[in-house]
Amino acid sequence: MAKFLVTGAAGFIGRSIAAALLARGEAVRGIDSFITGKRANLAGLEAMEFVEGDLADPSVCARACQGVEGVFHEAALASVPRSVADPVGTNVNCVDATLNVLVAARDAGVRRVIYAGSSSAYGDTPTMPKHEEMKPSPISPYAVAKLAGEHYLASFTRVYGLETVTLRYFNVFGPYQDPTSHYSGVLAIFCRKMLKGEQPTIYGDGEQSRDFTYIDNVVHANLLAAEAPAEKVSGEVMNTATGKTITLNETFRILRELTGYQGEAAYGPARTGDVRDSLADIGKAEERMGYRPLVDFREGLRRTVDWYRSGEGT
Ligand code: UD1
Repeated sequence: MAKFLVTGAAGFIGRSIAAALLARGEAVRGIDSFITGKRANLAGLEAMEFVEGDLADPSVCARACQGVEGVFHEAALASVPRSVADPVGTNVNCVDATLNVLVAARDAGVRRVIYAGSSSAYGDTPTMPKHEEMKPSPISPYAVAKLAGEHYLASFTRVYGLETVTLRYFNVFGPYQDPTSHYSGVLAIFCRKMLKGEQPTIYGDGEQSRDFTYIDNVVHANLLAAEAPAEKVSGEVMNTATGKTITLNETFRILRELTGYQGEAAYGPARTGDVRDSLADIGKAEERMGYRPLVDFREGLRRTVDWYRSGEGT
């Protein structure tokens, strides 16, 4: 019987958490609807019990939660522009699905649910770095949906006693991130294009900045969140990031070195719903569960470029 359920297990972050759990010898069940997840991402996860299903269906959630002790809820339509194009779809797959997972987890006697929150909750507030006590100010429908999920988790802790932890991810990147959709994360898109000698487009002036977080750091935070004492982490929101920031222009320059791309970037109009700057205060995660980033940005980017260069994921 599986001990952990990973939702979105065929997605970038879900498959990475599942792989880490399997490497620790844990029994893992994964679920994915393949709306954005990829069957190819399940390669190497053969030891995982896999269920194909949509979390928008409560009966699917009930089956998926049966017998598990912990849930890593990574499934989402993780894209700001996608949510701008289809706010209802984002709501169904982020908000309804999260509520269904929580109800199922409560009913199945799951001990703890760990949730993929998003730095987009902070919106365009000028305060830097972003800390968890700040009033959320979501801009995009995606940000609203991910934030609603956070509130549902906190509510389930207070009302039903379900242990919950929200990890607010800041721009995660790394191997297995899908580079092929125009809804993909910028680093995945840029790596793929620049390795193929194609010109990437920077939206806006390129001086927007992000706390880009390599996937290993996010996996590490999840494993810590699963183990930390409830009195330290349950019902809490914690940034999951590096505490450092870099502009898109500077990132492009580093990627030129790493990929060997010789050209310049194209510049296009700034994207609707975009946040200008994003940088995390990671003090709370360090204090509550001993989190510290394991891999810095440059090293993470090097590993990521190597992975895309090897031909995987393209
Ligand atoms: C946002 C969230 C992040 C969340 C992600 C899910 C913030 C600060 N971050 O990321 O936590 O996980 O949504 O999708 O809200 N860009 C280009 N060219 C491209 C693609 C993107 O210039 O081809 C630019 C975007 O306009 C943006 C930056 O790159 O300024 C990063 O974009 P993206 O990778 O899509 O992530 P965010 O929207 O920052």
